Amino acid sequence: MSTLSTLAALLLVVQTAFTAPTETSVSSVFGSEKVACSIFKQKYPDHTFYPNTAGYTYETQSQYWSARQFSLPACVFVPSSATQVSFAITTLTLTLSKFAIRGGGHMPVPGYNNIDSNGILLSTSNLSTLALSKDQATVSIGPGNRWRNVYAYLQPYGLAVAGGRVGSVGVPGLLLGGGISFYSNQYGFASNNVVKYECVLASGIIIEATARNAYSDLFWALKGGGNSFCIVTRFDLKAFKSPKVWVGMAQYDQSQSANYLDAVYTFGKYGALDSKAAIIPTVVMLPGINTTIYVTAKFYDSETSSPTVFENFTAPNLVSFSDSFALQPLSTYIDSTDVLQPLGLRQEFRVMSSIVSRDAIGLIHDTYTSAVSAKLSGVANLTTTITFQPITKEFIQQGINAGGNPQGVDISKAPYFWMDESWSWTREEDDETILNFADSVTADINKQLQAKGLAGTYLYMNDAGKGQPIFQSYPAKNLERLKEVREKYDPSRIYTNLTPGGWKVLQA
Ligand SMILES: Cc1cc2nc3c(=O)[nH]c(=O)nc-3n(C[C@H](O)[C@H](O)[C@H](O)COP(=O)(O)OP(=O)(O)OC[C@H]3O[C@@H](n4cnc5c(N)ncnc54)[C@H](O)[C@@H]3O)c2cc1C
Ligand SMILES: *[C@@H]1O[C@H](CO)[C@@H](O)[C@H](O)[C@H]1NC(C)=O
Ligand SMILES: *[C@@H]1O[C@H](CO)[C@@H](O)[C@H](O)[C@H]1NC(C)=O
Ligand SMILES: *[C@@H]1O[C@H](CO)[C@@H](O)[C@H](O)[C@H]1NC(C)=O
Ligand SMILES: *[C@@H]1O[C@H](CO)[C@@H](O)[C@H](O)[C@H]1NC(C)=O
Repeated sequence: MSTLSTLAALLLVVQTAFTAPTETSVSSVFGSEKVACSIFKQKYPDHTFYPNTAGYTYETQSQYWSARQFSLPACVFVPSSATQVSFAITTLTLTLSKFAIRGGGHMPVPGYNNIDSNGILLSTSNLSTLALSKDQATVSIGPGNRWRNVYAYLQPYGLAVAGGRVGSVGVPGLLLGGGISFYSNQYGFASNNVVKYECVLASGIIIEATARNAYSDLFWALKGGGNSFCIVTRFDLKAFKSPKVWVGMAQYDQSQSANYLDAVYTFGKYGALDSKAAIIPTVVMLPGINTTIYVTAKFYDSETSSPTVFENFTAPNLVSFSDSFALQPLSTYIDSTDVLQPLGLRQEFRVMSSIVSRDAIGLIHDTYTSAVSAKLSGVANLTTTITFQPITKEFIQQGINAGGNPQGVDISKAPYFWMDESWSWTREEDDETILNFADSVTADINKQLQAKGLAGTYLYMNDAGKGQPIFQSYPAKNLERLKEVREKYDPSRIYTNLTPGGWKVLQA
């Protein structure tokens, strides 16, 4: 073969490699964000904010839970309608500008809901629709809402939805990852209660997706597929009667840790017998003052409290030093607990999963608390928690009954505990210590769970830290389908390549 034909063959190979799979996919152009910002400013001056303005500071700082999310985008665009979101997507696509999307700003992964000065922040703050349908069966919720607004809006009607358990958390991120609610044992993932999504496709077209229309594949993908598909501009969520509930928080001191873990275990095992009940058991460590507190939120969806389902969290098994369990509208409780989650600290999450076993929570608790004591005493203002979220068979069955979801959690091994580890601190110089610790303690616990056959497989996106293999924990056929749906609605990869933040189905 002549040198020339070898070269030609080589060129063909190179060309094919570059053109075949990525033929239509885009990448950003350096400096183009400045062009996009000036287009936004010209067309929508009151919705576009440059650095050193009050609107910019409000959107880039005060709306985030974790200070590690603060960033300095080239500008912020704050649309107040789906049409303006469509204009934004078209502009960002034509100029090939990078961007991030932020809802309630509670995902604590740097870069997942904000962007640096080479990109633009799209804030959904002003997409704040809240409208109950005439028959009161559904409520339309704009992605600028936080759960606090949603419960407060529904309370006068005696209604509620399957939504977040902390008021400041945003609606869109929670629903796009799934959503664990106080009502999940009755209604599944919060996302299984969405009956319609309005969303802006990469083409700029505004569509509505339901279980039965032409976008039913997208409808399914949005129940746990994250931000790879479209920008949701409205969620229509099922509403149900729940005028008042029994809800509150009980706290126990360190001397009762063994009985507390027994109670968490028995709730995990038997809690599903009464699907109106839910708990959020959290071990809270304050290494600075050598204190560990054992806390649980208790919830019961009725005006009559259950005498038995919480029995192991009360005397004689456990004696609380405080307990706020009381009959009240959920919105009242949500308002009262928001102060426990202040904005502006530095935050990190990790997620883990186990089957329900007393050995599992024992080894998780012991490994975690002793590692914190041994390694994190030098971190100023540290609060670190581990939460054992009990996930019942009922929870998973309700999601299946409602049409399923991409998460495809294996019901045959249920019930589960889905653990959320969290760290909050104040000094930037402690970041590395915390991140290394988070990786090592999580790996250590997972290794022990695996060795004893106690590990679960599914990892909940919304409690995860950067790099955790979220979509890889979904059933392979579901991930395959997510990839196909993504390719169908966004062949040029706008929401993957131009929107780098978030867990991306293409990269799993
Ligand atoms: C204090 C606290 C309490 C929590 N409680 C619960 C709980 O009870 N149950 C539970 O399940 N989870 C809970 N979480 C986890 C929570 O679900 C996630 O943090 C979730 O990402 C928050 O949603 P957000 O809108 O505030 O997030 P954001 O950080 O604004 O967004 C999260 C992701 O969604 C994308 N996104 C945002 N808006 C849109 C949109 N309109 N269209 C497309 N993509 C979008 C963003 O780009 C980002 O990648 C809690 C978290 C915290 C910090
Ligand atoms: C957002 O909504 C608030 C309250 O309605 C309004 O004061 C503000 O001007 C709006 N901001 C933008 C950018 O539309
Ligand atoms: C921390 O608390 C534990 C349990 O209360 C106690 O045994 C230990 O001595 C304390 N350590 C310090 C350094 O005070
Ligand atoms: C409480 O604990 C006991 C003893 O382990 C157990 O038999 C019982 O089922 C538990 N109750 C509930 C409601 O989980
Ligand atoms: C601890 O937190 C307080 C209150 O937020 C703050 O004033 C102080 O500077 C923090 N300490 C350190 C060492 O960061």
